[in-house]
Amino acid sequence: MEQTLSIIKPDAVKKGVIGKIVDRFESNGLRIAAMKKLELSKKDAQNFYAVHRERPFFGELVEFMTSGPVVVMVLEGEDAVSKNRKLMGATNPKEAEKGTIRADFAESIDANAVHGSDSLENANIEINFFFAKREIS
Ligand code: CMP
Repeated sequence: MEQTLSIIKPDAVKKGVIGKIVDRFESNGLRIAAMKKLELSKKDAQNFYAVHRERPFFGELVEFMTSGPVVVMVLEGEDAVSKNRKLMGATNPKEAEKGTIRADFAESIDANAVHGSDSLENANIEINFFFAKREIS
């Protein structure tokens, strides 16, 4: 059993597709072990995405992630990290396989509907960033 972090980004929240995205997870063997809706401060977004701070898109990424509420979740299941990434599709929705969350709900590489941890190690760090132990069950 693995746990991974998922974020439904501001574009998807604005579009009103929280339920549709959550359904993709629950219908594919990923249980919602924790979930909350919140707005990231600039500091939150800068810290969460600190690994990308030297990348040219960092400013836009922080701007976008603070443009509206997000939904953060802990997904749990067998191979949760890779399963979630498969369900999301490629980072750039134009390259995302048909039937994936990004192909179906995302517009651009910035407004790409969801984030998912890229490794078990990062999943642990990202889960701890958002959730206290007592919020996960
Ligand atoms: P995410 O999985 O949240 O991780 C970092 C985000 O940066 C990524 O999704 C994209 O939304 C955004 N981003 C913008 N431009 C790029 C790029 N050229 N390469 C990778 N990620 C990018």
